This record gives sequence, structure tokens and C-alpha cells, in this order.
Amino acid sequence: MNMTAEIISGTKIAKEIREELKAKVDELKKKGVTPGLVMVRVGEDPASVSYVTAKSKASDELGILSETIVLPEDTKEDVLLAKVEELNKDPRFHGILVQLPLPKHIDSDKVLNAIDPRKDVDGFHPVNVGRLLIGNPYFMPCTPHGVQELLIRSGNSPEGKHVVICGRSNIVGKPVMAILMQKQKGANATVTVVHTGTKDMASIVRQADIVIAAMGKPKAITADMVKEGAVVIDVGVNQVGTTPEGKRILVGDSDFEAIKEKAKAITPVPGGVGPMTVTMLMVNTVRAAEMQSA
Ligand SMILES: NC(=O)c1ccc[n+]([C@@H]2O[C@H](COP(=O)([O-])OP(=O)(O)OC[C@H]3O[C@@H](n4cnc5c(N)ncnc54)[C@H](OP(=O)(O)O)[C@@H]3O)[C@@H](O)[C@H]2O)c1
Repeated sequence: MNMTAEIISGTKIAKEIREELKAKVDELKKKGVTPGLVMVRVGEDPASVSYVTAKSKASDELGILSETIVLPEDTKEDVLLAKVEELNKDPRFHGILVQLPLPKHIDSDKVLNAIDPRKDVDGFHPVNVGRLLIGNPYFMPCTPHGVQELLIRSGNSPEGKHVVICGRSNIVGKPVMAILMQKQKGANATVTVVHTGTKDMASIVRQADIVIAAMGKPKAITADMVKEGAVVIDVGVNQVGTTPEGKRILVGDSDFEAIKEKAKAITPVPGGVGPMTVTMLMVNTVRAAEMQSA
């Protein structure tokens, strides 16, 4: 039976979450607490500039205090570490985000490990990674948490489903696994993770009720790899060219056009997982403010 998939709009779901969040921010403000997010950017990497700008704009729209500290490209590691220490102690900021990638002479792990785990709204500190695995996180990393929200809010709860995650990075694949395998509402899935060491990946993906594609490989998930009626969440963002007007042409890790004739639901790229990431950062910042003011 041929079917046309429901297109899961991350833009729409992100908006819904932001509306709920606005009410929480207003409640905190009534108690005299303004959620605060500080971002540290080192150097002028254009992608980092645009990410930090988007996060700052989202904060403004929600009434979250945000400040961006820009340090020069040649900033010494110990200067950045001292800045993080200072921000750990600054009560105006409930969340601290150090924008990655950092310049090569700085050890990113050392910097991320210096952030107070209770202010680590990116969820990358080893304490938060460990807490996530045991099912009691302070914060969940933003993109993986966004994937879970997309599933739940589009009516495709992962509970009891076989989820196949394609990719095992620390920022997407592994945390998505840790979130969806928990014995918890909105999770409780049977999770399989595939990667470049997997033999016959196609036959495993074909068994999935839900496919999460996070490989960074344009259209690597083809329609013949997807079971009829499966749900596909496409995390991949791949630039495959530019339009004559100079706009970037982006595709996901799945062959959207072909899969949508077969799947139950699928996220587009752009407009799927992307808009959720910044929104989940806002969720974490508000949670940080709630935790620190309780
Ligand atoms: N929308 C968003 O907000 C957002 C956020 C983060 C990332 N992304 C996008 O998501 C994608 C993944 O990001 P990432 O940081 O997780 O990438 P990454 O660190 O490069 O990890 C890619 C993972 O996919 C696996 N992989 C690559 N090619 C494969 C193949 N042909 N078959 C099976 N597995 C394969 C790799 O396996 P090995 O471990 O064996 O090498 C690795 O585990 C990228 O396109 C990125 O731009 C989007």
C-alpha cells in the first residue's frame, strides 16, 4: 500500500514549545528571577557567529537575559578557563554555553569540563553525560532532546518501538540512544545503534519502526532501507551546493522525496530537527534558572 508521509514540522513544534516556555519565564520573573544565559565565543568562525546570534535572538524573544562574550582567536586556554570560572560564580547567569569548535590551541574537553554541571545547558559535561545514562540528567543535550520531543509531540512516541539510530557521535547518536532507552515515559524504546563498523546496515535499518539518521552523509538512508510505515527523523545537515543566488542547498541524511512515499512520517531538512536545537537550549536555560532558584 502506498502512502504519503506526514511531514513533521520542527518549526511548528519548536514554536509550540517556546509558547509554553514563555509562560514559565513569566512565572520565574514574578518570583524575581530572570533566566540568564551567557555564551562565550572565541574567534570569528562564521558558523559560530550565526549560531550564537540565533541563540541570542531566541533568548530575547522569550525574555531570557542573554550576553555574548567574544574573545579573540588567539585567547590562551588559561584565560578562557578563568573566564568560565568567573561565570560559574556569576549569579546572573544560570546557563553557560561555550560555542564549539574552539581554536585548535585550546583543549575543548578541558574547557567543557570546567563548566559547573548545574550551568551546563549544552549537556556536554561528563557529569551530565553520566547522569543522562543513569536516567537522571540535569540537562539533556539539545539536539537529542529535540529528537525525542519531535517524536512525542508528533504522536509517534518511541515507547515499545524498535528505534535504529544511524551514527554514534557524542553529540547526537550516543545521547539519543541514552534518552530513548530509559525506562521512562516518552522513551522505553528498543534501541539499536549502527555505524561504520556495522555489517549490512540496510537490513538492520529495515527492521526499524523509527529511524534516526545522524551520519552527516547526504541521502545515505534510501527508500529501500526503510520499512513501510516507519517514522524517519533526519538530523543530518549536508550542504550539497549553492543556488545561483548564492544560497546554500541543504539536504539531510535521508532521501526525503522517495521515503515520504513509504514512511508514516518524516522530518524535512531544513525545518525538522534544526529549529528544535535552539529551542531545547532555551528549555535547558529555564530549567537551570528553576533549579538554581528552588
Ligand atoms: N540539526 C541540528 O541541530 C544538528 C545538530 C548536530 C548535528 N547535526 C548534523 O547531524 C549529522 C551528524 O552529526 P554528528 O556531529 O553526529 O556527526 P559525526 O560526529 O561526524 O558522527 C557521524 C556518525 O555517523 C557514522 N557514520 C558516518 N557515515 C556512516 C555510514 N556511511 N554508515 C554508517 N554510519 C556512518 C559515524 O560512524 P563512526 O563512529 O563509525 O565513524 C559516526 O558515528 C551532521 O550532518 C550534522 O551536521 C545537526
